[in-house]
Order: sequence, then structure tokens, then C-alpha cells
Amino acid sequence: MSTKIILDCDPGIDDALAITFAHGHPDVDLIGITTVAGNVSLDKTTRNALAVTEFVGADTIPVTPGSSVPLVRRALHAEQVHGETGLGGAVLPEPGRKPRDGHAIDYIIDTIGAAPGEITLVATGPMTNIALAVRREPLLATWVKDFVIMGGSSGRGNVTPAAEFNIWADPEAAAVVFDAGWNVRMIGLDVTLRALATPPVRERMREFGKLGADLLLPALAQYRDSAGDDPAVHDVCAVVSVAHPSVFGYTSAAVEVETAGRLTAGMTVTSFETDAPNAAVATSIAASDFWDIVLATYGDVATEMSEPRKLASGGDELSGAGPGGVRQQRRLGALGQRLVPFDGLFRDLDQVGVPPALTVAPGGAQPGRPRAAPHGQAARDRHDRHVGRRVIGAHQPLEASGGQRRFQFPHCLSGVHRQAAGR
Ligand code: BDR
Ligand code: CA
Repeated sequence: MSTKIILDCDPGIDDALAITFAHGHPDVDLIGITTVAGNVSLDKTTRNALAVTEFVGADTIPVTPGSSVPLVRRALHAEQVHGETGLGGAVLPEPGRKPRDGHAIDYIIDTIGAAPGEITLVATGPMTNIALAVRREPLLATWVKDFVIMGGSSGRGNVTPAAEFNIWADPEAAAVVFDAGWNVRMIGLDVTLRALATPPVRERMREFGKLGADLLLPALAQYRDSAGDDPAVHDVCAVVSVAHPSVFGYTSAAVEVETAGRLTAGMTVTSFETDAPNAAVATSIAASDFWDIVLATYGDVATEMSEPRKLASGGDELSGAGPGGVRQQRRLGALGQRLVPFDGLFRDLDQVGVPPALTVAPGGAQPGRPRAAPHGQAARDRHDRHVGRRVIGAHQPLEASGGQRRFQFPHCLSGVHRQAAGR
């Protein structure tokens, strides 16, 4: 049976890829999308959610806008990373559909409250909507089937040395969320930086017709989550963890969010030695399995997109996005056959004529290639030193001289971060 999810997001390139995955995977029933300001402003994240869902044929999924500013701080976006529109180089048609009336926090409370224990809430943007919802209705923490975030890190950050973007953008909201009484499944930089869209992965996306040519590839091509290396599709990891929890390994932890630190605001301070855990922190990922699953799902979405949609009045209506529709059943059958047993995936893909082109090494990198996306490097390397005066702004690194890499981030203090390779 598929898991119903509400995706609270800030599309955002990797959010767009997460929406596409959630729409396409037979074990995920994406029942609603809520939007929040984050990577770009709320009007843009909402527009992008509408455009992506319409583009991939998920246009019956309601999109409800939420918060346009963080709880306390002023809004800081990441256009340097995701482009002016938020979708990098992808230029999707203006959506014909409109956002749903009402506010995201009402939608989250009402929808999950109407079906306690049935709906998983997944957050891939700043936690503003979730914090407001759980403050307004604390029982939400007991009503969710599961609560999953892409955010945080038990080690280094990607916007500052201490903080990951989704937490850094609204630390007070994240603090509320981690303190709400539920067990947060935290899919953070510890794992997302090990699932990189390497050249072989992107090569496979060329097989996906319009989906690859108009969305996946141009979006990733201008994703400044890295500079020249391979982008991390952070938010996709969170949705994959719902469909295939065992792709990740988890460690129980107590996570607290730093809100007062001058240099460390947004840090997810993670204690693995605790008797009072509030989170299951993803600490390992089977990266090649991850990409097998993601690419198989995108392949199915691409196939659907290439087929003419039937009219509602026709005898074989295919336009329903909900479970039980003809389209869903066909997808379930096709993908189910390919994924079970899982270790037969490549063999079975071979049988249906799809070349097993993936060569992603464990850890998501190809042998012999530099592994690090630049801000990923900052996150992975726990021993690098800081040169210069202040906090390091992140997301868009620019090469500087002398083995140093300059980071820039809008509205953020900038500085110089020494590349730590070999030190
Ligand atoms: C997170 O920050 C955003 O830029 C991405 O969409 C992702 O949710 C990664 O740190
Ligand atoms: Ca996001």
C-alpha cells in the first residue's frame, strides 16, 4: 500500500526533483503540496510547485501556499544556487492551474487531523509552516504517520560551517519543530552529500524525453549547489526515505537547534549519546540503490508524459492522479515488477531494454573523480580551517587563489573558506 504524503517545500531545483519522484513512485501517494519561502520567495516557490506538477502530469495535486517570511528573522533566499526563478535552467510553461485557497498550516492540520496515523509529513524547505502548524495544533505531532525532513547535519553545514540551509533560513522554526514531541526523521547533509548526480546519472536522464530535456537536465545544469562538480539532490533523499526507508541507515539522537549563536545559528547540535532521543538521524545511504530507484521512477514518469492523455469522457481515463486510477495501477505493476526483488533491478531493466548505465560508486562518486561539491566539501571535511574574518556565506563558491575558495551568499556575510583537501 502506498504511503500518503504531504510535501512542504520551497521549489527549488531539488524540491522540483523531489515532487517528480513523489508523483512517480507507486509506493508514494502525494496527496498535497504546501509551499514556503526559502530558496526563492513564496510567490516563486508556489508558482514552481504549480508549474512542475502541471508539467509532469500531477496537476490534480493541490498546492497550498504558506509562510512568506521566517518566524523571527528576515527572509534570505538562495537565488545564487537555484537561479532567479528557482528552477535553474529549466523553463517550464506558465502553469494554467491556480494555488488552492487557504493557508498551508490549515491544510496540514486539517488534512492530517482528518486521518490520524495515515499521512506522512515531509518537509524539504525551511520549517516555518511546520512550526506554525504544530504550535497551533500540538496534536499534529501525534497525528502524523511519520515526520521526515531534509535538513540539518550532524557535522558541518553548507551555508555556514555550522548550518545547513533549511535550518539556517529559519532556526527558530526548526527549534520549535525538533522540540514538538515527535521523532523527527532527519535526512541531512550527512547522507544527501553522498547521493550526487554524477555524469553517468545525468547521462541516463537523457533517456527521459521531455522530462529529462526540459526539467531534470537544465535544472541540474544550473544548480549552483556545486561549482563544476556533481550536484546533490538533497530533497529527493527525503522522499526516497519514505518509499524505501532501508536505503538509509539511521542513528537515534537528540538534536537541538542553535538559535542564539553569532556564528552558529541554525546548527543542528546532534548528540548520539542520549537517553532522550527526538530524532532518527540518517547516517548512511546506499547511493547506488538510491539512484536505481530514482531513475526507474523518473523513467516511468517520462513514459507517462510521452503518452497522450485521455479525455475524461473516454473509456480509459488516465488522468486521475490518486491511487486506484488506471495510471497508478499500471505504474504499480510495471515498477513493482522491476523493483522486487530489488537486487534484480539491473537484470530486469536489462530485460525490458533499459541499459544499466549507472556506475555510481559507493558514496556517490565515481572512482578517480573529485567527490566534493564545494559546499559539500565544507560539510564533509570536519578539519578544515577558516581564513578571513567572519561567517562564511555559502551556496555559491567561487574559486579564489592560493587553494582558497570564496563563498558568496546573498544577504550573508561573505568570507574565504580554505579548501581543506588533504589537510
Ligand atoms: C537544502 O537547501 C535548499 O537549497 C535545497 O532545496 C535543500 O532543501 C539543502 O541544504
Ligand atoms: Ca528545498
